[in-house]
Amino acid sequence: MTGNTKCLRGRSLLTLMDLTGEELKALLDLAARLKERRAHARRDGLLRYRTIALLFEKSSTRTRCAFVTAAAEEGATAEYLGLHDIHLGSKESLPDTARVLGRMFDGLAFRGYQHDTVVQLARHAGIPVWNALTDDWHPTQALADLQTIRETFGTLQGLRISYCGDGRNNVVKSLILGAAKCGMHLVDCTPPQLAPDPSWIKEMDRCAQAAGGSIRVIHEPLEAVAGANVLYTDVWASMGEELQFNERVELLRPYQVTMDMASATGNLENGRLIFLHCLPAFHNHATDVTREIGALEVSDEVFEAPFSRVFDQAENRVHTIKALMVASLESEEIK
Ligand code: CP
Ligand code: NVA
Repeated sequence: MTGNTKCLRGRSLLTLMDLTGEELKALLDLAARLKERRAHARRDGLLRYRTIALLFEKSSTRTRCAFVTAAAEEGATAEYLGLHDIHLGSKESLPDTARVLGRMFDGLAFRGYQHDTVVQLARHAGIPVWNALTDDWHPTQALADLQTIRETFGTLQGLRISYCGDGRNNVVKSLILGAAKCGMHLVDCTPPQLAPDPSWIKEMDRCAQAAGGSIRVIHEPLEAVAGANVLYTDVWASMGEELQFNERVELLRPYQVTMDMASATGNLENGRLIFLHCLPAFHNHATDVTREIGALEVSDEVFEAPFSRVFDQAENRVHTIKALMVASLESEEIK
């Protein structure tokens, strides 16, 4: 296994901008090694006696559970601090809470609304802080996305991702950063109203081109998916955007990932196509939100298709988050 994560010791991860392409690949290598060890039931206590605080303002299934299980499997203890569990915001300022947590814990994961909150936590806590999702970024999700793609195709370089949906949310922006650093071709397929800042896309495209890839925004779905190896989508209204839900459904209906889109990639028959979704997903009538209106961002047929890798991707949240914690906190060389 290649890649050395020594340089990540003591560091925070707030967005993937914090990592060079080499560091990102080293982290994915470490995640693959840790996954392999877990498959052989090896628990090496790489985080033994470490303590991790999980400060979450928004709800979470995968990210919270990935931090908890990854910590437990390597001997660390994770303490969940929900929105109303501590004094933050009501009786205590953010810098004070950060300094207290930094005196008690070895690492801190934060999930919440404003990205500046995680920036402030990292500034004041004096321990590694990991962004577990903010309105703007979801870097640990992108790590699991890249691991899932790499273990399917054996490489990242030169592969084509077509993302369809809300083109400027935390998940797609993190994926764009990761794809650019790894020399992948990514098309962000979204209506003009939801397109990311063109100057940022230009910057990401330059970064991708330097590594052999490209980043583009296209508004027409069938054009955008041609040649794709990865079809990716996310919810149309993110946490905190509940009021925009109805208008998003109307705007994004033509961007639902369907079997027609999968066929239009040209890679369905040759087995060079996977479907990914960070989850949770509205793919059938089985949630309160979709009971009446049915599937939203992806059809049930695609979600349940053999080329859908969404549960491998969810599992990979554990391995990549474990790699991140081990790389940030471990003091010995990992054999
Ligand atoms: N993908 C993801 O972050 O899921 P949760 O919101 O369940 O953590
Ligand atoms: N974009 C979604 C991702 C959920 C994991 C949200 O922020 O709600």
